[in-house]
Amino acid sequence: MKIAVLAGDGIGPEVTAQAMRVLDALRLPELTVFEGDVGGIAYQRHGHPLPPETLTMAREADAVLFGAVGDPACDNLERHLRPEQAILGLRSELGLFANLRPACAMPGLEGLSALRPEIASKIDLLIVRELNGDVYFGDKGTRTQADGTREGWDMMSYDEAEVRRIAHVAFRAAQGRNGRLCSVDKANVLETSQLWRDVMIEAAADYPGVDLSHMYVDNAAMQLVRAPGQFDVIVTGNLFGDILSDQASMCVGSIGLLASAALGERQTQYGTFGLYEPIHGSAPDIAGQGNANPMATILSAAMMLRHSFGREDDAARIEAAITAALDHGVRGFDLGGSAGTVDIGDAVLARL
Ligand code: NAD
Ligand code: IPM
Ligand code: MN
Repeated sequence: MKIAVLAGDGIGPEVTAQAMRVLDALRLPELTVFEGDVGGIAYQRHGHPLPPETLTMAREADAVLFGAVGDPACDNLERHLRPEQAILGLRSELGLFANLRPACAMPGLEGLSALRPEIASKIDLLIVRELNGDVYFGDKGTRTQADGTREGWDMMSYDEAEVRRIAHVAFRAAQGRNGRLCSVDKANVLETSQLWRDVMIEAAADYPGVDLSHMYVDNAAMQLVRAPGQFDVIVTGNLFGDILSDQASMCVGSIGLLASAALGERQTQYGTFGLYEPIHGSAPDIAGQGNANPMATILSAAMMLRHSFGREDDAARIEAAITAALDHGVRGFDLGGSAGTVDIGDAVLARL
């Protein structure tokens, strides 16, 4: 079982170290860990945020555990050299088009959510975010017009095959949950969204047991804070999914809690190849202070055991240890507590 660990920048290495402690404690047979440079640190060391050796390491692994990339010192580099290009490159080069971002109320955190406790306690949803298309990957550029006016553009597009494959992932996820799928788009304005909606409706014919509904993204943002309990599975495009998942994290309690899996079609001898990462970024404002909450990354490691290694029992053990730690009152700084990154790792290990 080969894992490529790409810790990246800022708090990436801090939170990834705690997830690795948890994986080590499980004493998984045949586990081999490879570590690679990615993001700003890779740019400093190798001149590129996603060096070929790192991409090869990820390709040859059965799963990737990813921390975060991003460094304010790199914000003025040419775009293809910026740290963020590394995660975008991994997602596209490895064909990881389906991003699962679960958001679920956690014990004792209702009072820490940005929402009222009786609203927050009802959250149990899964965002299925398309990850290989949309405005992220279209033609983009800037230019100065003849009169000196600067202009920038990013082309938003989806073809029907891209929409269909994420639709099937989302319908199957809804089948395995409560049978409700809400497709979020902006079909009242965008042609990409009209195609998205048409293809979702066509795909629904294969899933008579799933109740498909549609919602405009602006309304979805509002409904997510008004009554998040109404959602089971949300399927949406790359950009809308990025925004709504950060929003969902604060409905639960903190961005330091939400895990994710990026999956494609490739199967290994153990399960589905995937890349696992917290939904948050490198958090430069708190990097190096030992205050980052590693729970999102630890929970991402649990998703890795579930999806890439077929080890449901071990995944559930990690999730139960996180729940028990929260139940016992372990709170990171993001949740108004004083438990540091390593303290939280200790607390989870103690309950594993
Ligand atoms: P961010 O998620 O890094 O941070 C947003 C806020 O949440 C900050 O105040 C931060 O301190 C806090 N936060 C995030 N994770 C936390 C944790 N585990 N524990 C406690 N607090 C936490 O988003 P940003 O500030 O918009 O972006 C910073 C950098 O990260 C940028 O370069 C951005 O491009 C990058 N980024 C990378 C990824 C990724 O690697 N997948 C994801 C998002 C952002
Ligand atoms: C995320 C991040 C990335 C995204 C950035 C860093 C490219 O925000 O993983 O959510 O927009 O997908
Ligand atoms: Mn994001």
